[in-house]
Amino acid sequence: MSPVSPVGPVEETALAPAPEWWQSAVIYEVYPRSFADGDGDGVGDLAGLIARLPYIAALGVDGIWMTPFQPSPQVDQGYDVTDYCGMDPLFGTMEQFDTLLELAHALGLRILLDVVPNHCSSEHPLFQAALAAGPGSPEREMFHFVPGPLDMSDDGGGGSASGASDVPPNNWQSVFGGRAWSRANPGSATDTDWYLHLFSAGQPDWNWRNPAVGEYFDGVLRFWFDKGVDGLRIDVAHALFKADGLPDSPSTGGVVDGLRSNPQVSDQEDVHEVYRRWRALAEKYEPHRLLVGEVNLEPARAARYTRADEMQQAFAFAFVKLGWDPEAWAAVGNELEAARQLHGASPTWALENHDIVRTVTRFGGGELGSLRARAALVAMLGLPGPAYLYQGQELGLPEVDVPLESRMDPMWARGGVCRDGARVPLPWTEDAAQNFGFSLTGPPADPWLPQPAGWGANAIERQQQDPDSSLALVTKALEMRRLLWNDEVFGRNDGGTWRVEAGNLLICERSPEFFVAVAMGSESVRLPAGSVLLSAAPPAEDGWLQPNNAAWVLRA
Ligand code: NOJ
Repeated sequence: MSPVSPVGPVEETALAPAPEWWQSAVIYEVYPRSFADGDGDGVGDLAGLIARLPYIAALGVDGIWMTPFQPSPQVDQGYDVTDYCGMDPLFGTMEQFDTLLELAHALGLRILLDVVPNHCSSEHPLFQAALAAGPGSPEREMFHFVPGPLDMSDDGGGGSASGASDVPPNNWQSVFGGRAWSRANPGSATDTDWYLHLFSAGQPDWNWRNPAVGEYFDGVLRFWFDKGVDGLRIDVAHALFKADGLPDSPSTGGVVDGLRSNPQVSDQEDVHEVYRRWRALAEKYEPHRLLVGEVNLEPARAARYTRADEMQQAFAFAFVKLGWDPEAWAAVGNELEAARQLHGASPTWALENHDIVRTVTRFGGGELGSLRARAALVAMLGLPGPAYLYQGQELGLPEVDVPLESRMDPMWARGGVCRDGARVPLPWTEDAAQNFGFSLTGPPADPWLPQPAGWGANAIERQQQDPDSSLALVTKALEMRRLLWNDEVFGRNDGGTWRVEAGNLLICERSPEFFVAVAMGSESVRLPAGSVLLSAAPPAEDGWLQPNNAAWVLRA
């Protein structure tokens, strides 16, 4: 069998249904405001994305996940939605979206959108209606409004001028820092309600215990599925339901992240019913629509969201956050494999997204970080199951230290970490006057986040000319992956077992014939016998892997 030539599809048997496209897909995450700016206002948009679609198609990915572009005050860069079925004029028009969808499909690219069901914008008409309708109204039942106690002290100590106490209904903390509650009507003596927001005060949480919320979102899903959108990435998918009665969390003492660590918010059993309903809805369409969850839980819990009648994919967050540590990779790999065996679905691999520090920087920065980021990417693309790439990852972009005065992230503003460093607009060319090619027309306005000096050294145009560039490596890896996936060895979605061999050589054994190896130590290591199909850097010596290199190996 030739390792790189396809030998035709795996034969179908009664026990092994034909693989679905998403089981092996690689999806490219587009953060629209930083991808390409078609109108020169310094913010990426649909015109830019449409113009640059051929670039994405040429990478060899199967589709695109677009982060939110719906109308929004942009408090959290679009994760605060006022109209789930609209288009923010900042990004373009719905006609442009329809064109994008059509062009993408013609290029063989599927389109996934972000749906944000945990919270909306405080400007959403239903939240505005709830504010106006007042305490106890059915409008307020769409969200979590809870009356606060009145301040009975004489001097109003700790209270407000209105006589309402400053003590929120419980001790939950916002993921972005600070408390997860704000007063509905801070100046009022009669309206003592607080509303819950797990993120910023501009992002009130929907009350999923009210069936009207579920019905509302069914309509949102239908709207996009009817349009022909191929799937949805579900934001904060594990947090829609809160524990009955909204009890205090035992775990918030000193902990800023009030979501993952809060058992009253995270992973409530009722949430699974939502995904069962959504999966049934997704399967009413032909082809079936894809649901991928942002389920930020440990592997065994996260895997429950990909049971056969729930979502098809959930990001493997334990993997997304790894540092350069072979024992941690092996432990997480085996944990994910155990979860796969329990519930069937492969982990959905990713190493970067718009919320996480870029791998080049996470793995050590500079040349060392670049080598490791390439190795990690090659390793990831060799693993069984779907994978996601984040725009700029294919270029080996480092995290940018965005100057304090230019930071836009609400998480930073509320005392959390700053995620802007992974969101800096892409460098397409070396032309600094055109925002390094990010702005297609000009003279352009400054980009919404500043690009650092020397950004052009990473430019796509430059990497396209360089056979040793990160872009060339990723394109080659994707091409080979596509060919091999039709092959009997690579195509089996059987999972893998992980171990660390002498010299910190990390191995993921996918099958008796094929393994992925990453040299994570400081010395070159000998590979188990086999032929190297692909490596992140050319092996310095036959049969050996130098430090910070990774390879796909077919056993001898
Ligand atoms: C996860 C998104 O990826 C992140 O960017 C956002 O701030 C939160 N969810 C809240 O929607």
